[in-house]
Amino acid sequence: MGHGPGGRGGGRDGRQDGRVAPRRPVAADAGSCYAQTMAKRFDNQVVWITGGGSGIGRALALGFADEGAIVAVSGRREDRLREVVQELEARGAKGLAVRCDVTDEASVAEAVQKVVRTFGGLDVAVANAGFSVAGRIEKLSAADWRRQLDVNVIGTAMTARYAIPHLRERKGRLALVGSVAAMVSTPGVGAYSASKYAVRAIGQALAVELHGSGVTCTTIHPGFIESEIAQVDNQGRYDASRTDGRPKNLMWPAPRAARAMIDAIARRKREYTFTGHGKLGAFAGRHAPGVVHFGLTRGKSKKK
Ligand SMILES: NC(=O)c1ccc[n+]([C@@H]2O[C@H](COP(=O)([O-])OP(=O)(O)OC[C@H]3O[C@@H](n4cnc5c(N)ncnc54)[C@H](OP(=O)(O)O)[C@@H]3O)[C@@H](O)[C@H]2O)c1
Repeated sequence: MGHGPGGRGGGRDGRQDGRVAPRRPVAADAGSCYAQTMAKRFDNQVVWITGGGSGIGRALALGFADEGAIVAVSGRREDRLREVVQELEARGAKGLAVRCDVTDEASVAEAVQKVVRTFGGLDVAVANAGFSVAGRIEKLSAADWRRQLDVNVIGTAMTARYAIPHLRERKGRLALVGSVAAMVSTPGVGAYSASKYAVRAIGQALAVELHGSGVTCTTIHPGFIESEIAQVDNQGRYDASRTDGRPKNLMWPAPRAARAMIDAIARRKREYTFTGHGKLGAFAGRHAPGVVHFGLTRGKSKKK
């Protein structure tokens, strides 16, 4: 989940290949005339997205398709993946549903193999699968922590591990989905925030490790985005009856978020933070943690 206010997410948004990319106009909708009238930046490139069956991952899949890509989506719920593939095909794009649980290393390895076998290679991998364990630190069990870190941290690392050898062959792009919570931790989502701090650390290390290989790593920190994340319980199960208590007025629609993310990936940015409020929160978390603490505690009586 995106949290609060933030700067440029610790990044200078600098490209990692030293080249300058021209700015492009922002289209009103991911499936809009933009896709038909402008050059497509991912023509015939193979893109693999974990957590591609809903929310941000689904919007990324459709957005990449509008940029000319061939898109493979992964997740645990195959019905959701098939729906996305139908949407991709309805747009005239090639799609593939690959079941993959990112907590299972063999499943990740097999998913990458299936994508490469089917489409001949891999140009872009997006480690997007994730969920949020909610609860105050003193209430969370070791099992809660393991579940959170298993999906968000180890799942991200395994996605990178198995995608990188194929990305090297095509000087491709790796993207990790972090969160503004990687820079500012708020009450009740400490475990999620810890997992996203770790994703940021993985992204920073990878950007250096991959330097010179032609492969770049873009770590993306979204603020609040419309998705199903608030409807997923602490066990990682989707429950449609759960309500989303996040501030609606600060939330971006997923297609808009996907456009911003695809742009950052296309430009090979090292780190990218977005939504205006997300930037503000990340900036405060990184540069003024005392102010954040004061803001979150002011007016609250001390609890034992
Ligand atoms: N929405 C926001 O405000 C926001 C803000 C900042 C960052 N993010 C990050 O954005 C990413 C996408 O989340 P979202 O907001 O789009 O939520 P979402 O709609 O719930 O999507 C999360 C996706 O991750 C998949 N997933 C969960 N556990 C998995 C596992 N073990 N193996 C494989 N796939 C798994 C889910 O599919 P299955 O259940 O079918 O496996 C689901 O499609 C997450 O990393 C999240 O932390 C979201």
